[in-house]
Amino acid sequence: MNDDFSSDASIIDRKNYINDADWSKLQEFIQDKNPPFLVLSREKAISNYKLLESLSNWAKIYYAVKACPNEEILKEFIALWSYFDIASIYELDRVLSLWATSDRLSYWNTIKKEKDIKYAYDKWVRMFATDSFEDLEKIARVAPKTKVYFRLLTPAFWADRPLSRKFGCEIPLAYELALKAKELWLIPYWISFHVWSQQNDLYAWDVALSKAKELFDQLKESWITLQMLNLWWGLPSHYIKKTETISNYLDTIKWFIECHFKDEKMDLIMEPGRSLVWDIGVIVSEISLVSKKSTQEDEIRWVYLDLWKFSWLIETLDESIKYPIYTEVTGELSPVILAWPTCDSADILYENYKYLLPENLKSWDLVYIFSTWAYTQSYSAIEFNWFPPLKIFVI
Ligand SMILES: Cc1ncc(COP(=O)(O)O)c(C=O)c1O
Repeated sequence: MNDDFSSDASIIDRKNYINDADWSKLQEFIQDKNPPFLVLSREKAISNYKLLESLSNWAKIYYAVKACPNEEILKEFIALWSYFDIASIYELDRVLSLWATSDRLSYWNTIKKEKDIKYAYDKWVRMFATDSFEDLEKIARVAPKTKVYFRLLTPAFWADRPLSRKFGCEIPLAYELALKAKELWLIPYWISFHVWSQQNDLYAWDVALSKAKELFDQLKESWITLQMLNLWWGLPSHYIKKTETISNYLDTIKWFIECHFKDEKMDLIMEPGRSLVWDIGVIVSEISLVSKKSTQEDEIRWVYLDLWKFSWLIETLDESIKYPIYTEVTGELSPVILAWPTCDSADILYENYKYLLPENLKSWDLVYIFSTWAYTQSYSAIEFNWFPPLKIFVI
């Protein structure tokens, strides 16, 4: 993997993110628009989906709706016969309202109210994830005879967006849950794990798969044969750090599966979020202000954009995701602190990691933030300082 991650990595070659033809199309589109906004490319969403499908004909694609629930893009995926991973009854209603069918949905969230499980069951959802006895009993009560799957905990390795221990359980508990599921007349069907998001270390899949196999073997000895493996996802997107091509990742993961599960026959599914369509979103932002905190010559510049962290780019929390930031303004480069205009002091994008931007950058100049498809619209909040939610165009 190319670990291209020095401060110089913030000097963006636009062509690594958007080709000339798409760039001209974008420029034409934004001429009469008032920043800030996010532009999504329908064409790219479709071609990326088709590419992933062709590279992974050994697994079904369950698109993780949470990554970007944009209706226009969801409609395209539905037309391409995608399956969907949903996390709430609200995501359920959204995909159903766009004519997805319930047999193509998996309700992955292990933290559910009983009435929500019933709601999903009444809408014909028949696959539920679980990681606790209480949740399993709720499923058995209101969603009888459905297929359940067990979410295993996995270690963090080198993920930029670690997930914490909120979801998942250790192997002995998953084993007990599978036995209990059978007792409750549910169908213990599959194993799932998430190797954490923006995972840079391919061995994370190796380790997770060996855990999955351990559970598989233990259950087989107890006469329960799990039939499906859900790889979830976690593949990294191309932000300022370069990533491998998706085909390299998939080839290696497939090889790990073959090594661990050898002759076992398992149906495979994956739930891509972030990396499926990382390159289809561009945020266009206008600089609100450039200023310094003292008169000293070498004082660092603060560059304030016109959008805010908690609505638009929540993944800059802890500076974990480092977005490619590009401007057409040229000139000598020097480090800046990038921040937003709301009155929350924490509303700073990058302070520790110093982006290099041209010294003659000023108010009204445009800044483009690439790779902003995932986890932007889905986090978009409203009302702080009365800033409106993220404005989105699909072209
Ligand atoms: C259950 C589940 N599946 C899939 C995904 C998608 O992961 P990513 O965006 O890292 O590909 C997530 C993200 O958190 C998830 O929780």
